[in-house]
Amino acid sequence: MKRILVTGARGQIGSELITKLRDVYGHSNIIATDIREAEGELAEGPYEVVDVTDDKRIYEVAKKHQVDTIMHLAALLSATAEKMPKVAWDINMGGLINTLEVSRELNLQFFTPSSIGAFGPSTPKAQTPQDTLQRPTTMYGVNKVAGELLCDYYCERYGVDTRGVRFPGLISYVAPPGGGTTDYAVEIYYEAIKQKAYTSYIAEGTYMDMMYMPDALEAIVQLMEADPKKLVHRNAFNISAISAEPMDFAKAIQHHIPGFQISFDVDPVRQKIADSWPDSIDSSAAEAEWGFKAKYDINSMTKDMLEKIAEKLK
Ligand code: SER
Repeated sequence: MKRILVTGARGQIGSELITKLRDVYGHSNIIATDIREAEGELAEGPYEVVDVTDDKRIYEVAKKHQVDTIMHLAALLSATAEKMPKVAWDINMGGLINTLEVSRELNLQFFTPSSIGAFGPSTPKAQTPQDTLQRPTTMYGVNKVAGELLCDYYCERYGVDTRGVRFPGLISYVAPPGGGTTDYAVEIYYEAIKQKAYTSYIAEGTYMDMMYMPDALEAIVQLMEADPKKLVHRNAFNISAISAEPMDFAKAIQHHIPGFQISFDVDPVRQKIADSWPDSIDSSAAEAEWGFKAKYDINSMTKDMLEKIAEKLK
């Protein structure tokens, strides 16, 4: 039986991962934590307010609820991290080492996401291999590469069962992403329903990897359940479902909303970040080592996103 502590439970991934894990492992076995107070269904608990920079508090909550796993999601995303690099370092690296330490002390299984942001301009851009050059030029990317290495270190040095994936841009309709470079691919769906038009801050022709949230959640559960003997990479599996640029989203939306218009007003900061990331990544190690397979492509995702957002905004 798994008992899982999740940090960043009110974030884009956390708000849906909690529901998924409660369905799979039972409601009371999932301890949601966030720096903010509980809201909505989360208020039914179990829920604890936890600041991931407070190592004693993480230990106390993990011990109190007798968890056997930590899923550490709390972090600042790429665009926010560029606005306040030192704060990003403190939260992203501080939160990571604190949750890893508690996992070491209490002998817990551990998951944390890395990102396509762990790559940089000198990384091969097309079908980026699993093992390749990683010289990112953003604070977020620096945190993610250091994080991948730190998770490997805790596994090799202390035997902590650390696992992770490099998530692409995640597209979802429950909680909004905050401060990421790939956020346009979520905003475009809301604006399609509200205005039948969207002004993209990412330029036409800029490809990045994307994935629909149900595939991301399934990947987390699958990786955590995988036979450890089969895992060669452990902490930073490339996974992707869709390689797309803004016009690909516009065309997929126009299929359902024929009058939808896209225009461009490029934000130089986020464009520079996007330009430093891969166009598409190769997920074959994840497929071979633990059977990763995404179900949604851009068309099936678009249909579902538009239906769900129309319902939500009614
Ligand atoms: N979606 C994230 C971002 O844009 C990438 O991991 O920052």
